[in-house]
Amino acid sequence: RTYKRFMQCRLDIGWLCNPLLAIYESLIPTEEEKVKQKQLLALLEKLVNKEWPEARLYIYGSCGNSFGVRNSDIDVCLEIQSGDIDKSELLLKLADILQSDNLQDVKALTRARVPIVKLMDPVTGISCDICVNNMLAVVNTKLLRDYAQIDVRLRQLAYIVKHWAKSRAVNETYQGTLSSYAYVLMCIHFLQQRRPPILPCLQELDTTYSVIVDDVRCAYFDQVEKLINFGTRNKENIAQLVWSFFHYWAYQHDYTNTVISVRTGHLLSKQSKDWTRRIGNDRHLICIEDPFDTSHDLGRVVDKFSIRVLREEFERAAHIMQHDPNPCATLFEPF
Ligand code: GTP
Ligand code: MG
Repeated sequence: RTYKRFMQCRLDIGWLCNPLLAIYESLIPTEEEKVKQKQLLALLEKLVNKEWPEARLYIYGSCGNSFGVRNSDIDVCLEIQSGDIDKSELLLKLADILQSDNLQDVKALTRARVPIVKLMDPVTGISCDICVNNMLAVVNTKLLRDYAQIDVRLRQLAYIVKHWAKSRAVNETYQGTLSSYAYVLMCIHFLQQRRPPILPCLQELDTTYSVIVDDVRCAYFDQVEKLINFGTRNKENIAQLVWSFFHYWAYQHDYTNTVISVRTGHLLSKQSKDWTRRIGNDRHLICIEDPFDTSHDLGRVVDKFSIRVLREEFERAAHIMQHDPNPCATLFEPF
């Protein structure tokens, strides 16, 4: 009898909202931290501009897209007309410029997949990676930040999903699981698909922002302050959304035939993208289209072993949300 009552209670998982929101709140960076990040960026900009007056620095990744947790490193992109100097040389020069000031552990990693200069600022205690001319990342950071302004449930869902993925060790691209960027795109697409929708498709609306980066035209509606009521007809709470998200990826997503696409707000067929078979190292076992670089599948890192790990983790999470007496503890149990 107790079990039956327990099951009935679980049909309504609204009681899970408060504990989930408490976790979300605990992950948000403090205002003080944001101020320190800006200070560091200003310092770096000053140093860089002494040598290259026309160069610019941009924050990208989780510190700029509003999906960053407390105490994270910052990702910075240096935009510079490099002429015929190659990237390695540029990074070595950059490391040299920054070394001369009070920054610590300045190191150029010229052979990395994305070559960077790493450093630590002893004043703010913040570590930082600087890459060069990776402007597509700067633009997709803005897209994510703009989506986050529309409905707070996106930020809540993405924080919970990222926290879950880190706890369960499925946020490791070098081990064949997904990047944080991929998880946020999964959350955006999921909320575009709710009925009624919680998020619009910004790239399908009138263009108010448009730039060309690496020959790709990046265009979308960015006056998101006009869309703050977009999702209000949908009354789903965060507990229902977290459960539905995991349930979707555990049992409903058609891994064999479909691609999720934030760009169109719909599912596309693998056939239409020619992502039906393995080409080189790209296996397309889970397909997540990059919103601007549309030939880029963020699921490319997933192999036949890690796809099983991922899907079992989605199933585990859906099961816990539905049946575990203390889901907030079990869901984030370290792997
Ligand atoms: P955390 O550092 O885990 O909190 O998240 P993050 O938002 O910084 O994400 P991540 O390190 O995955 O990616 C950093 C940025 O790189 C993203 O925001 C994108 O702008 C950009 N990016 C573009 N393409 C890719 C890609 O294929 N993989 C990854 N990982 N990042 C990409
Ligand atoms: Mg990052």
